[in-house]
Amino acid sequence: MTSKTVPAYSICVIPASASVMRLCCLLLVFNMLLAEAFADISTQSDSAYAQRQKRTEWFTKARFGMFIHFGAYSIPARGEWVKSVEKMSNEQYQKFVDEFDPVDFDAKALARLAKEAGMKYAVMTSRHHDGFCMFDSKVSDYKYKKRDLVREFLDAFHDEGLKVGLYYSIIDWHHPDYPHYGDPHHPMRDNPEFKGAEHNWDRYLDFMHAQVKELVTEYDRIDILWLDFSYGQMRGEKWRATDLVNMIREYQPDIILNNRLAGDGATTLAAGASLGDFDTPEQGIPDTPRIDGLGRPIPWEACLTMNNSWGYNLADNEWKSPRLIIHTLVNCVSKNGNLLLNVGPDAKGNIPEESVRILKEVGKWMKGNHRSIYNCGAAELPKPEWGRFTQNGGFLYAHLMNPHIGHINLKGFADKVEKVQLLSTGTGAAVATQWWGDSSADSFFVNIKAPTYKTYNLPDETDTVFEIELK
Ligand code: GLC
Repeated sequence: MTSKTVPAYSICVIPASASVMRLCCLLLVFNMLLAEAFADISTQSDSAYAQRQKRTEWFTKARFGMFIHFGAYSIPARGEWVKSVEKMSNEQYQKFVDEFDPVDFDAKALARLAKEAGMKYAVMTSRHHDGFCMFDSKVSDYKYKKRDLVREFLDAFHDEGLKVGLYYSIIDWHHPDYPHYGDPHHPMRDNPEFKGAEHNWDRYLDFMHAQVKELVTEYDRIDILWLDFSYGQMRGEKWRATDLVNMIREYQPDIILNNRLAGDGATTLAAGASLGDFDTPEQGIPDTPRIDGLGRPIPWEACLTMNNSWGYNLADNEWKSPRLIIHTLVNCVSKNGNLLLNVGPDAKGNIPEESVRILKEVGKWMKGNHRSIYNCGAAELPKPEWGRFTQNGGFLYAHLMNPHIGHINLKGFADKVEKVQLLSTGTGAAVATQWWGDSSADSFFVNIKAPTYKTYNLPDETDTVFEIELK
């Protein structure tokens, strides 16, 4: 990438009074300084961009990961925000912390399940906004003491050959020095007892930085650090973000960071922030691939729940169908994005049965069709009526998601196609280069069977994939 050139200055020569001349000179100097500053920033951002591309290479190939929201909130079973939503005091919340003992949590089984679903990486909560640690923090006693669940997670997922990430909440609803009264989210936000209370922000930051340091130094390789989240004035340097990032990279130079130190998630990097490696749209999929101000692609990962809750929620039965999950994964990949799909273990550590069922169904589809997901990204073709395209270099993948009449016309591909097959079975597809009316010399017709103009039922109603090898 070359640095963007900014015109150094522009002068128009007109007869002018002395004061206008002075103003012109000032503008000239200002413009030159500005140009220099921009040249510098864009040079830096070019090399920073290249480094980010390198760091995120595996990530943008992996495309599909598991999010795990696990903590003491699985006991009340009303989601991970229960303490805030119900404005519970530390004392009221303590009973869940005391009770938390997930005897059935089996990180190895979970790693196998993630792998069976076709996932390539996973991110687990090391602590959520309630501040309760799932790891053996030396700087806090507010932790599950019987086992180091973070270590179990990291070891088990590493052993299955998956990349591993840790979620860490930079927000803390337990620490005495985190702002209480008036904060938009803190459980004590409108409790008058905390009005005017003193909170030593630096002491909180020292503590938070120390815990992050533990995460990046006490365990082996961590591939992703998923920090959550910024809001209002609580963003960027308010967290001493540059120091934090420098420290993290000192110990884990290849680690990938999400964008939430800098902003609230969805469009932070696309909007120009430089802290972090990927944008994190939540519970929704962007309409188009993400690009930065210079039109360069930005890695992104949509995080999504299988029902509507991150932490275990007994009353939430709005499960998404495996079909919708598969379509959403393809949707993300077709726009250069990843999907991080959540599970919320219950109080004993078991994954809800419905989540297991969905993951296994997704896994069955992935088994035959993963080539259309891993290493793939946006295709240079518009979204077709019948589904979506993904592409990996010389291989184009046509995802047939909706029943449709007749053939698919890969218009413009007549001389470009080497071979077409049904991806899941390797069966050759039927191809033809001409048919009626809309056919032009560059038409290329594909269908499940011959003759290609007829209408056939899709072998996989969820998403039948054609692999099209290009010449
Ligand atoms: C939000 C929520 C949080 C959840 C996260 C996942 O920031 O506060 O509960 O962990 O998004 O993206």
